Amino acid sequence: MRIVICDDAAAATRTAVDRIAAALRARPASVLGLATGGTMEPVYEGLIAAHRDGLSFAQAVSFNLDEYVGLPPGHPQSYRSYMQRHLFDHVDIAPERTFVPSGEGDPQAASDAYEAALRAHGPLDLQLLGLGHNGHIGFNEPGSSLASRTREKLLTRTTREANARFFKEGETPPRSAVTMGIGTILEARSILVLALGAGKAAAVQGTVEGPVTAMCPGSALQMHPDVTMIVDSAAAADLSLADFYREAEALRRSREGG
Ligand code: GLP
Repeated sequence: MRIVICDDAAAATRTAVDRIAAALRARPASVLGLATGGTMEPVYEGLIAAHRDGLSFAQAVSFNLDEYVGLPPGHPQSYRSYMQRHLFDHVDIAPERTFVPSGEGDPQAASDAYEAALRAHGPLDLQLLGLGHNGHIGFNEPGSSLASRTREKLLTRTTREANARFFKEGETPPRSAVTMGIGTILEARSILVLALGAGKAAAVQGTVEGPVTAMCPGSALQMHPDVTMIVDSAAAADLSLADFYREAEALRRSREGG
């Protein structure tokens, strides 16, 4: 895993935006795996700014990781409406090429349909990931099979509490979600993880240095050959080999001439 430790959240976000923009420039018909959450909002702002400077999404296809079960696409807290608000409405991506799992109807049927769409358009060229405080990726909570496919997952109480901030007061956040599985995520050609702030330090440590275990779903990324983890110094605080990662990154940059 390539670990990039940036001084602060803004620098880490910029690094992630630059990586995504470069991938899209190199391959305009990229199949992008997209994520939601607070961490990604400034990433999408950066991509919208890059679009204004000429970056085109016109040939791209996108697949989001997950959707809440029971929320129609038009619900303000659905991940479909998050994506419209934070990215799709502001760039030139074709609406019919933006895929988000359906939170309506039978979750198993929605999951099977999503896997079929992924097979038809995939593999994903670049999967963007955030990290849950408990190490979840997508909505694959601790205990998820490392070989899992898209399916319905019950959300833990801590995840529901963490995401309650996005819902109106008195509104109960959904108990479950349809999420790409860990096995599905690992099929992406390349994976970019962004984790920011002290609250993510334990999850980052478990993902990068912990044993590969279903108790920290992010740790499954150790099995993938092309993962870049971008963190700020607060999220890197628990990494025992932080100095080594900094040195390795400095060497890589000097060889790349940057
Ligand atoms: C949600 C999403 C994840 C995301 C995580 C972290 O649970 N399903 O994809 O990575 O939250 O979100 P935040 O960036 O808000 O901390």
